[in-house]
Amino acid sequence: MRDFISMLDITKEELKDLLKLTETLKEKQKKGEIFEPLKGKTLALIFEKPSTRTRVSFEVGVIQLGGHGIYMDTRSSQLGRGEPIKDTARVLSRYVDGIVIRTFKQERIVELGRYSKVPVINALSNEEHPCQILADLFTIKEYCRDFKGLKVAFLGDGNNVCNSWLIGAAMTGINFYAATPQGYEPSEFYIKKAEEIAKTTSAEIVITNDPVEAVKEANIVYTDVWASMGQEEETEKRREIFMPYQVNSELLKHAKPDVLFMHCLPAHRGEEVTEDVIESCRSIVWDQAENRLHTQKALLTMLIR
Ligand code: CP
Ligand code: NVA
Repeated sequence: MRDFISMLDITKEELKDLLKLTETLKEKQKKGEIFEPLKGKTLALIFEKPSTRTRVSFEVGVIQLGGHGIYMDTRSSQLGRGEPIKDTARVLSRYVDGIVIRTFKQERIVELGRYSKVPVINALSNEEHPCQILADLFTIKEYCRDFKGLKVAFLGDGNNVCNSWLIGAAMTGINFYAATPQGYEPSEFYIKKAEEIAKTTSAEIVITNDPVEAVKEANIVYTDVWASMGQEEETEKRREIFMPYQVNSELLKHAKPDVLFMHCLPAHRGEEVTEDVIESCRSIVWDQAENRLHTQKALLTMLIR
């Protein structure tokens, strides 16, 4: 693995190693042990969309690993004035040891990776959110130990998070059911890739428009915002279309009695999830958010040389 632009960039074995390393790094941090493999290294952190978790977990993570991060946004850099991403890639590669980028089109990150001489990490694009899925898988491992046989139901928009989840589930053998309204299914490309990978792990990949079918006997119910960053003007329209996919206590009655609730956050109470569900003892969203830090530290340790 040279870059982490897509969940497709990591092999099953590397993913296993990363989750193992995460466990070690989390333990070290809890014990206050110093581990600084990034001493003297610098990362550029480019954010062309807002962020709380991803930005802070990368900034804190690189500091804990002994390195340094430089935050860049569109407005205060030449990116906002139209400097091509391929030029930015070549210039930043002369200064830094890695580039983390959150942007709109996945192709922009792919182009950055093509021209960069240092590793590039996708911190969310319209098509994928691979760093999120690393933290989600680690959190599930902490709670459930084993992936095989688990059923994860993803409810709502077949968006970036859902696309990356398809690959993550296929690689780990998790049975993944995505229930979305018609016309909001995940991308065909990721469905096909997930189905190919699933043949090697026996994961079940099911795309449905029926929320009850997805949630039935699920171990984990997962959701995300209905209108992602960049889709703000569709908020009203989507609220109506997505309401049958809201994660509420009625819907959760179809899941296993000990079902866990997950959400990448930020959450919109009363929309994709109700207040009682996200605040219940079944909700593991804060562990999930914390694990962004630990999994990304493992990723940086593996990628940055
Ligand atoms: N889950 C996630 O990526 O959150 P942020 O948008 O706050 O980074
Ligand atoms: N699908 C959401 C994820 C936010 C972390 C978005 O792209 O806005």
